[in-house]
Amino acid sequence: MQQTGSSTIKFFNGEQIPVELHKVRIVQKLYLRPIDERLAAINKGGFNTFLLNTKDVFLDMLTDSGTNAMSDNQLSSMMHADDAYAGSQSFYKMEKAIQDVFGKKYVLPVHQGRAAENIISKSFIKEGDVIPMNYHFTTTKAHMELNGGKVFEIYTEEALKIKSSYPFKGNLDINKLKSLIKKYGRENIPFIRLEASTNLIGGQPFSIANMREVRKVADENSIFMLLDASLIGENAYWISQREEEFKHTPIKEILQTMCGLCDLVYFSSRKVSSSRGGGICTNNKDLFLKMRELIPLFEGFLTYGGMSVREIEAMAVGLYETTDETVISQSPSFIKYIVDDLDKSGIPVITPAGGLGCHIDAMGFLPQVPQEQYPAGALAAALYIISGCRGMERGTISSERDKDGKDILADMELLRLAFPRRVFTLSQTKFLIDRIKWLYLNRELVGGLEFVEEPSVLRFFMGKLKPVSDWTEKLVAKFKEDFGDSL
Ligand code: F0G
Repeated sequence: MQQTGSSTIKFFNGEQIPVELHKVRIVQKLYLRPIDERLAAINKGGFNTFLLNTKDVFLDMLTDSGTNAMSDNQLSSMMHADDAYAGSQSFYKMEKAIQDVFGKKYVLPVHQGRAAENIISKSFIKEGDVIPMNYHFTTTKAHMELNGGKVFEIYTEEALKIKSSYPFKGNLDINKLKSLIKKYGRENIPFIRLEASTNLIGGQPFSIANMREVRKVADENSIFMLLDASLIGENAYWISQREEEFKHTPIKEILQTMCGLCDLVYFSSRKVSSSRGGGICTNNKDLFLKMRELIPLFEGFLTYGGMSVREIEAMAVGLYETTDETVISQSPSFIKYIVDDLDKSGIPVITPAGGLGCHIDAMGFLPQVPQEQYPAGALAAALYIISGCRGMERGTISSERDKDGKDILADMELLRLAFPRRVFTLSQTKFLIDRIKWLYLNRELVGGLEFVEEPSVLRFFMGKLKPVSDWTEKLVAKFKEDFGDSL
C-alpha cells in the first residue's frame, strides 16, 4: 500500500509540520491543576519529579519507557495470549518476531532491559575487565560495575557539545577504541557495547559507517560486539534521514543491517515496542548457551522470562510495528519540531534533534545556578510548577558522590522531556513550547536546590530536595501576573 513514510508533512504555507498518522480511539483524561496546587505537589514530592503523582501532572514527559501508546493490534493480541508456564505459544510468536525483525536466531526473554544487562554482565564480565562503549546508561553501568567491570566511554569530540550539526553524535571514536585495546589487552575486554540513540547524551544516533569501523576493530581483536537496541527504531529512522547510503533503504533493512553487525543484541521492550519486558538475541550458540542457564534463575522459565504472556504478545506485534516508518518517525518528528523551534528562539537545547526526547541544557538556561545546586533538577521543578509538564533531571542529581562525599559533577546538566510514541498531540506540543519560552524569559527568577533526604544509591529516584531560597514563590507570583487565572 502506497503511503507517506514520514510523519513530517509540508503545508501549503511552506511550514514542515509533524502530523499524527494514526487516530486516537482510546483516551485518558488529563488534569491541568492550578499553579498553587502544582507548587504544593512539587513541595510534597521533594522537588523530585519522580515523586509526583500523575494526578498532578498534565503532560508526563518523564520517560518513554512503558509509556508509548499501544496500537489496536497490540491490544487485541493480548486477548489471545496463551497462559502457560512452559511452552507458551505467545513466546514462540515473540521469538519469531525477534528472528524476523532483528535477524537473530536464539532468543532469551527477560522482564525488562536492566534484567538483560544483569544476565549479560554476569555471563561475560570478570573482575578487572574493561568495557568500551559509546556512552553508558545508568542501569548498564551499575550492572557492569557490580560484576567487576570498568566502563570506558569513548565518544567523539562532538558528542558532548550542546549545539552541533553533527548528524551522528552517538558514534564511537575508533582511534580511542584502538588505543584502549592496546592499553588493556583484548583478553580483558569481554565486548564492545554500542547503545542505539545514546540515551544520556540526548538520544543521539550512531551511523552504520561507524558500526562497520567498530566491527572491523572488533574482528581484528576477536572481541564480540554488543548492541543495546532499546532505542534502535529511532536510531534507524535518523540513519534513513541522515546517512546517504541508506536514504532509500526501508527501516526493516536498516534494523537488520544494524543487528547484523553485532553478535549479541538486547533491548528493553518498554522502549522499543510499546509494551513491557525485554529480550536478548544472538546467532552465536555459544554465547546463547552461556546466558541461558541464568534465565530460570533470575527471570523465570525460558518461555516467559518474568513477563506476563499478554506483554509477550504485545511485544511480538510491537516489534513488527517498529519496522513501520509511520510509527517509528512519530516521536523523532515531534522532537525535531520542538528542538528546532526552541533553538530558533535562542533557548539552549541539544542539537541536532535525536530520539527519545527534547533535551534542554540547564547550565545554559540557568547560568546563575551553580552545578552544586543542581540546575537540571531546578529547571525540571520550575517547568513543572509553571506548566504541569513533568520532565526528568539528567545531571548531577542522577550522578553520585565521591569517597569524600563530594558531588561528582555530571558532564552535562540536562532536563529531558521525553516524547513517548503516539501519545501527545501537536497542540499539547505547542503548549509545552510556549511555557518553556515563558520560563526562559523569566529564567533569572529560578534558583538552586539542596538535598534534604539523600539515598546512597540511585539517589535520583527517591531523593528529596528543597529550594535554596524563596525562588519558587517569586516564580509563581510572576506567572500569576502574566497569566492571571489561566492555568
Ligand atoms: N538501555 C537503555 C538505552 C535505556 O534507555 C534503558 C531504560 C535501559 C537500557 C534499561 O531498560 O528500564 O527496561 O530496565 N531507560 C529508561 C529511561 C528507564 O527512562 O530512559 P529497563
